[in-house]
Amino acid sequence: MTTYRHFYVKSRAKTSPDINLKDLPGSAGRLDIVARCINAAFWLSYGIRKNVVFHTILHGEPNAPIYIRLEGEKLRKVSPDERSIAIFIGKALKKFDSSKEIESTPGIFVARKSFEELLEENRDKNFYLLDENGEDISNVEIKTPFFLLGDNVDMPPEEKKLALDYGAKLVSLDKKSYLSSHCIAILNWWIDKNEQENSIS
Ligand SMILES: C[S@@+](CC[C@H](N)C(=O)[O-])C[C@H]1O[C@@H](n2cnc3c(N)ncnc32)[C@H](O)[C@@H]1O
Repeated sequence: MTTYRHFYVKSRAKTSPDINLKDLPGSAGRLDIVARCINAAFWLSYGIRKNVVFHTILHGEPNAPIYIRLEGEKLRKVSPDERSIAIFIGKALKKFDSSKEIESTPGIFVARKSFEELLEENRDKNFYLLDENGEDISNVEIKTPFFLLGDNVDMPPEEKKLALDYGAKLVSLDKKSYLSSHCIAILNWWIDKNEQENSIS
């Protein structure tokens, strides 16, 4: 049975499709962070992780919130560089329709959705809220995971509270504050390692 890994990153990126690919960190509202997180979530050296689902909600001007989901099993044509990922996010924003979810390109879905709706839809999974001051990951059982992360700033207190109300566990990788994309790479490595150890024993 495939164990899926879900990652959510809160984003302040712009919600209009006119993305300047030469200015992802500036006028696009730190879309570079989302692109790097997507890279870390899916790409192996020669291939893509089919058991990963990546979620983000863009909160920037002018049309927030816009929810985007990428599914590894269906993802096609996107390459791992920030520019390519940003182009596909732009295509999703172009096809956005506030009345229904659209598959903008293979494996990429776009819809109007709040953070609370996302938590509600995924309450069959276990939420893990990534936080430097949480419980050390080596003491936490990771099962059907849905990881929640901030971007260059932490998730706001009201969203953290909402996640905790949905049963999220606070999990720490270290006391040092890492980039969100690095946290995702570490989480993938950690789960890979644990899966390999469990399959050997
Ligand atoms: C760049 S950090 C946010 C920066 C910082 N916490 C702040 O003052 O806003 C982005 C996100 O990565 C996650 N994160 C960073 N370092 C972590 C660590 N050592 N353990 C667990 N999560 C971490 C948290 O979810 C955080 O919101």
